[in-house]
Amino acid sequence: MNFKRNIIVTGGAGFIGSHVVRLFVNKYPEYRIINVDKLTYAGNLANLKDIEDKPNYVFVKADICDFDAMYELMQKYAVDGIIHLAAESHVDRSIKDPFTFARTNVMGTLSLLQAAKLMWEAQPEKYEGKRFYHISTDEVYGALQMNRPEGIEPPFKTVASSEGHKAYGDDFFYETTKYNPHSPYSASKASSDHFVRAFHDTYGMPTIVTNCSNNYGPYQFPEKLIPLFINNIRNRKPLPVYGKGENVRDWLFVEDHARAIDVIFHEGKIAETYNIGGFNEWKNIDLIKVMIKTVDKILGNPEGHSLELITYVTDRLGHDARYAIDSTKLQKELGWEPSLQFEEGIEKTVRWYLDNQEWMDNITSGEYEKYYQDMYKGR
Ligand code: NAD
Ligand code: DAU
Repeated sequence: MNFKRNIIVTGGAGFIGSHVVRLFVNKYPEYRIINVDKLTYAGNLANLKDIEDKPNYVFVKADICDFDAMYELMQKYAVDGIIHLAAESHVDRSIKDPFTFARTNVMGTLSLLQAAKLMWEAQPEKYEGKRFYHISTDEVYGALQMNRPEGIEPPFKTVASSEGHKAYGDDFFYETTKYNPHSPYSASKASSDHFVRAFHDTYGMPTIVTNCSNNYGPYQFPEKLIPLFINNIRNRKPLPVYGKGENVRDWLFVEDHARAIDVIFHEGKIAETYNIGGFNEWKNIDLIKVMIKTVDKILGNPEGHSLELITYVTDRLGHDARYAIDSTKLQKELGWEPSLQFEEGIEKTVRWYLDNQEWMDNITSGEYEKYYQDMYKGR
């Protein structure tokens, strides 16, 4: 079968990657989507059960750091687009084991860039019609000040805000904000972003970088705040709040991120950076209370029943105070908007985890349980 495009999505068995693969496979039957994933602890083919038999979907288990394998794969499928999500993604793990983060996030990205460059440069049309799209994070910008701890009404249209939404400072991350990463995770992502831009500036590779805020939604590995806490509330386990719970994160529903990736892959300008976010800042503790309220409501518990599970623990080392993305450029230039109001997104997410207990149990019953116990030892 001849496909109009052959696109590699790396990290497609992970949280965000699985939403991107699903969207592209369903929306573009004329494209072949090649999901390249090493299946680390975070990769899970159960995330893609519903599309695994589609004729335009291919799964390849491979390590992005393996240059020869990447080059061969790109040749085999005459790949003309790469959407690169594969990464080590958890900040706490990067604090314990920075080497793995440098290997996958930096060397892995470099290996993909070099393989794509060699292949495309050898073709008569070279870079024409090609795309190397690198998915990055707002964490590369560092931390913003929380100089309005009680919050202010943000000076922009807040499409994803709920009642009571606040901006906790008067500065935001813009595409022009200088990089200032703090954690080994964000340092590795910053380095990979620089390599991607360097391949454009040096060789003329058709690259795009986007920096997105915190994602939430179905299929997120339960080491991350939202799925971890939903599962702990359900199992009446402690909810380990780092520090005072005052840190601010800017949350976006994962399907909105996937839609942004679709728009930017097709319509974004080469060499540009786009920030992706929904102007949706929450202090951790306030967000945790929304989760508790939602889970208790759905499980039929009395209001406030699970508040007693909140347990303040030792803070994350170097814990960034506040992230807040300004996505005006993306909204104005490409017309993307987040679709979900936050409480709506949280309710949808809580229902998904409660309805998909088997998915959760398959993860939490094995090796991961041991890791989780070690992680919280001494906190
Ligand atoms: P995830 O940890 O859920 O998934 C990562 C995937 O990459 C897994 O399937 C894993 O098996 C795969 N992978 C890891 N190392 C690999 C290797 N060496 N070779 C091939 N595959 C490998 O991550 P996520 O939360 O879905 O994040 C995806 C991307 O989006 C990352 O690049 C991350 O930095 C970025 N990002 C994430 C968020 C967020 O809130 N989760 C926000 C902004 C940007
Ligand atoms: O901002 C984008 C980033 O968002 C992505 O680049 C990362 O890949 C992704 O993991 C996420 O990073 P965070 O560190 O913000 O996400 P996490 O879910 O780990 O933590 C969210 C906030 O909650 C953070 O302030 C730390 C806090 N936290 C987290 C956990 C796991 C707790 O208080 N307790 C916890 O047990």
